[in-house]
Amino acid sequence: MKAVCSWKEHVAFILMFIIGCNTSNSLTGQQVCSLCGGSVLNRTAVGQFCSGFAGLIDGRCCLKNDSSGDHERIIGLDLSNCSLTHVENLQEASEVIMIDLSLNPIVNISADVFRGFFYLNYIFLPEDVVCPGGNTSWQKVEVKQGNRLCEGQKDICNQTGHLSLNCPENSLCAPDGPGFYECSCAENYYGYKCLREGEFPALQVFGPLAASTVVMSLLLWATQRRKVESHFTTRLTETDSSKREC
Ligand SMILES: *[C@@H]1O[C@H](CO)[C@@H](O)[C@H](O)[C@H]1NC(C)=O
Ligand SMILES: *[C@@H]1O[C@H](CO)[C@@H](O)[C@H](O)[C@H]1NC(C)=O
Ligand SMILES: *[C@@H]1O[C@H](CO)[C@@H](O)[C@H](O)[C@H]1NC(C)=O
Ligand SMILES: *[C@@H]1O[C@H](CO)[C@@H](O)[C@H](O)[C@H]1NC(C)=O
Ligand SMILES: *[C@@H]1O[C@H](CO)[C@@H](O)[C@H](O)[C@H]1NC(C)=O
Ligand SMILES: *[C@@H]1O[C@H](CO)[C@@H](O)[C@H](O)[C@H]1NC(C)=O
Repeated sequence: MKAVCSWKEHVAFILMFIIGCNTSNSLTGQQVCSLCGGSVLNRTAVGQFCSGFAGLIDGRCCLKNDSSGDHERIIGLDLSNCSLTHVENLQEASEVIMIDLSLNPIVNISADVFRGFFYLNYIFLPEDVVCPGGNTSWQKVEVKQGNRLCEGQKDICNQTGHLSLNCPENSLCAPDGPGFYECSCAENYYGYKCLREGEFPALQVFGPLAASTVVMSLLLWATQRRKVESHFTTRLTETDSSKREC
């Protein structure tokens, strides 16, 4: 009977965990779109862009109208006139194409905020905030009516004369947001700076690791078990002696 109860408790716990995760997911799905009140207005840059894409407006977001996709992709984000002093986490909108951050008292934005923003092609900023990744990461930088527009994200992997930015030999460069790139070893190369050639020796590398993990776990299990037992026996003798004292 007791075993059944604890089994039910486990299921309830797991269910609560799953439900908790789901609700937090759906909340974060809206978070960036409701960072401040109002919704995307038709006459704004994001509004025009959105109607050009036949997107759906949800608060401050423009969502791609894609019934096949299992997640709603944010393609436009209008956080203009939002009283934002700093911008930290926009990961929910990592596939965004246009962002408007104008008319906010932002001083500077860490470049890391836009790491992985591969599709970002238009960003409106307050005049004094520099473009993420610097001017060189954009095809066009324009200051107009108190706003800075960074337009056309450059492919950092396709720039001649920037040898220091390039990946080592035998590796492939992939853009990873304004000013960022990633290097991955070309086929048949691996290791530090992709200097080793041939198949990655998975068994030789992970085999000993797996074996030592098993040994360590067994050792830990054995020692912990002994500790628990010895602890238990000392407790028993203690209570025995106290009883005797009484
Ligand atoms: C927004 O503007 C577009 C043209 O720019 C127009 O086709 C559309 O009907 C407008 N939508 C609303 C809600 O006013
Ligand atoms: C979204 O797309 C579906 C089918 O692709 C279409 O029926 C629907 O009218 C679209 N919604 C808007 C608001 O454009
Ligand atoms: C910014 O928002 C305030 C109130 O939230 C409004 O009064 C003001 O007109 C807005 N400014 C612009 C340029 O839209
Ligand atoms: C702006 O950036 C500089 C250097 O990256 C940093 O030291 C400073 O604290 C930042 N200011 C704000 C207000 O975030
Ligand atoms: C970046 O471009 C803008 C607009 O062209 C210009 O005003 C600014 O001085 C440039 N910044 C740097 C660091 O080159
Ligand atoms: C690489 O750059 C050249 C010239 O700068 C351009 O013509 C070409 O389209 C670019 N290729 C890609 C894949 O961006």
